[in-house]
Amino acid sequence: MAAGKGTRLKSKRPKVLHEVGGKPLLAHVIRAAAEVVPVENIYVIIGHEAERVRTAVAHTGVKFVVQSEQRGTGHAIQSARTALAQFANFLVLSGDAPLIRAETIRRMRDFHIERDATMTILTAKPSDPTGYGRILREGSTDRVAAIVEQKSLRPEQSNIGEINSGFYAFQSEPLYANIDRLSTNNPHGEYYLTDMASLLVAEGHAVMAIRAEDPDEVLGANTISELVGLDANLRMRKARDLMTLGVTVLRPETSVIDDEVRVGSDTIIEPFVQLLGNTTIGENCRVRSYSVISNSQIANDVTIRPGCIIDESSISRAAIIGPYSHLRPGSEIGESAHVGNFVETKKVRLGRSSKANHLTYLGDAEVGDSVNIGAGTITCNYDGVNKHKTVIQDGAFIGSDSTLVAPVKIGAGAYVGAASCITRDVPADSLALGRGAQVVKEGWVKKKREKK
Ligand code: UD1
Ligand code: MG
Repeated sequence: MAAGKGTRLKSKRPKVLHEVGGKPLLAHVIRAAAEVVPVENIYVIIGHEAERVRTAVAHTGVKFVVQSEQRGTGHAIQSARTALAQFANFLVLSGDAPLIRAETIRRMRDFHIERDATMTILTAKPSDPTGYGRILREGSTDRVAAIVEQKSLRPEQSNIGEINSGFYAFQSEPLYANIDRLSTNNPHGEYYLTDMASLLVAEGHAVMAIRAEDPDEVLGANTISELVGLDANLRMRKARDLMTLGVTVLRPETSVIDDEVRVGSDTIIEPFVQLLGNTTIGENCRVRSYSVISNSQIANDVTIRPGCIIDESSISRAAIIGPYSHLRPGSEIGESAHVGNFVETKKVRLGRSSKANHLTYLGDAEVGDSVNIGAGTITCNYDGVNKHKTVIQDGAFIGSDSTLVAPVKIGAGAYVGAASCITRDVPADSLALGRGAQVVKEGWVKKKREKK
């Protein structure tokens, strides 16, 4: 179910597209569901901002049912009758509870089938049940008498600690035979799916509860503060998973690591690091504090010093980056290369053991092996209309404060004198100087002083 607006978020974005752990709430639920049933058997009920929601998750291969008016969770399942009645049993999952695990959904399904229940409710006992529907059991059995929503709780029911997770399994025939009996006679004026529990019980059907082992798994996100709590929960889960694989995440509560990120063993992630998107980090690396790495591939034995921003780039074995380097998309840093402070790169291939250690811009450049790029070197890649390429071949030495006006090529082993402005190609093994010649007027100051 993903058709609701999410009124309590006070946001223009539909609730199920709010992100935790780097992706929309709904994407987490679909991922868990797709581990349990074939993806082509998953129907997402959309309604509020339907097209936006559809576009965001269509790539997963799920199907969609449109609930054009959002009149409650019971109405959502009514709207999906044509799609769901073809199955003898189906599962209902809330699109706003992203911590759910596939194994818990599987447990609920197996329980439902083994016990031949008409309706099975996944429940939990969280530390604070406020806001959730509560489970009224029949004594201490696994039978349920009713679900009572927060707003309808009678005073003597307010101490019930067992909540409805919003995840269910149903036998479709008895469900659809009775679903039209739901009413809107409740504080929200909506058709509540939760009312099916007492309706089915009254018809003599078995409604059962199975409790989730970890109450955190069923937490829903109805407010921004709950969203932030779920995000922290997911990040911590990810950091713990990495630690079981031999990665050290120091002060994990400060790190932001997306779900898809892979990190090799013996790597150390220092506090306040963000690893985002499709990022891979090899073994025995160190990522120092305040670095933000997105969609990048980093090999083994690499050191990322503090404060680096690395985006859509690749870094080969034993390279050292930072502090304060900015690797923009298309930067390919070679084995054992160094990129130092306040160096910006974009669409660059920097060869093995080459160094650009200070205050440099390298854009649209191909730099060979063992090249030294002096402090303050700039590739002038843009003429105001087009981008041009700079080629610096193996073993070249670029003096500090040089500007290389592209398109231009510095041959292998060539030297460029400091502060040169290079506008023409430099052949291999030659020295190029492109600067005003130094003039020294001996005694000039002394004479001036004496004149005064
Ligand atoms: C619901 C349950 C509550 C449970 C809680 C668990 C009901 C009446 N209450 O409350 O017992 O403890 O979930 O998180 O079901 N949706 C639709 N169409 C609609 C309305 C909602 O698709 O017309 C979707 C929403 O997008 C959401 C899900 O259903 O993904 C649950 O709706 P929500 O409004 O969050 O229900 P809760 O108040 O959280
Ligand atoms: Mg909810």
